[in-house]
Amino acid sequence: MLIRIPQLLSPAEVAHCRQVLEAAQWVDGRVTAGEQSAKVKLNLQVPENSQQARELGELVLRALGRSPTFTSAALPLRVYPPMFNRYDAGMTFRAHVDNAIRHVPGGGRIRTDVSSTLFLTPPEEYDGGELVIEDTYGTQAVKLNAGDLVLYPATSLHSVTPVTRGSRWASFFWTQSMVKDDSRRRLLYELDNGIRHTRADLPDDHPGVLSLTAAYHNLLRQWVEM
Ligand code: NI
Repeated sequence: MLIRIPQLLSPAEVAHCRQVLEAAQWVDGRVTAGEQSAKVKLNLQVPENSQQARELGELVLRALGRSPTFTSAALPLRVYPPMFNRYDAGMTFRAHVDNAIRHVPGGGRIRTDVSSTLFLTPPEEYDGGELVIEDTYGTQAVKLNAGDLVLYPATSLHSVTPVTRGSRWASFFWTQSMVKDDSRRRLLYELDNGIRHTRADLPDDHPGVLSLTAAYHNLLRQWVEM
């Protein structure tokens, strides 16, 4: 399931991120890649422990906390501290699957259930640089407005096509979900959307609203792992 969250960051927040990133030190993106993906990865990243990555990572986490769509779609247990990357002309990340387990800087590990990319440059500033995701419903090419986020199952094979003009900046991170199975998360997300729409038209104590809400929570209770 691919979900787009438009305007996760406001234009002012995007501008702030870009200003901070302008002053950041950029290093070879292979520093965080596994053995296989290092061979197909050519991009730049801000070091995970840098002041800039920490400050902007906090900003992204706060934005996620404000987003009911992110909560409903990812059912987050833990979010990896957001990282920042860029693809200048000629840079690309060929097809790969993200590592299943990641060591969190500062301690602990997370299982990567959901991958997210938050676009920080508007599409007109670069050519190429599409995020290509092989989803259950076929291959999808994603290129969003600055401030928009896409989340997709970390089980998917994905790539970033070569940038041929300009520079593509983004934040990316993983989420360990309380529900690890993508098809179950999708079902819960669709049910939650259905309840939200129904509640817009019916009183909260309507028997239909009550039984749908009960079904949502009882499914969640069966599937959740914490
Ligand atoms: Ni990846």
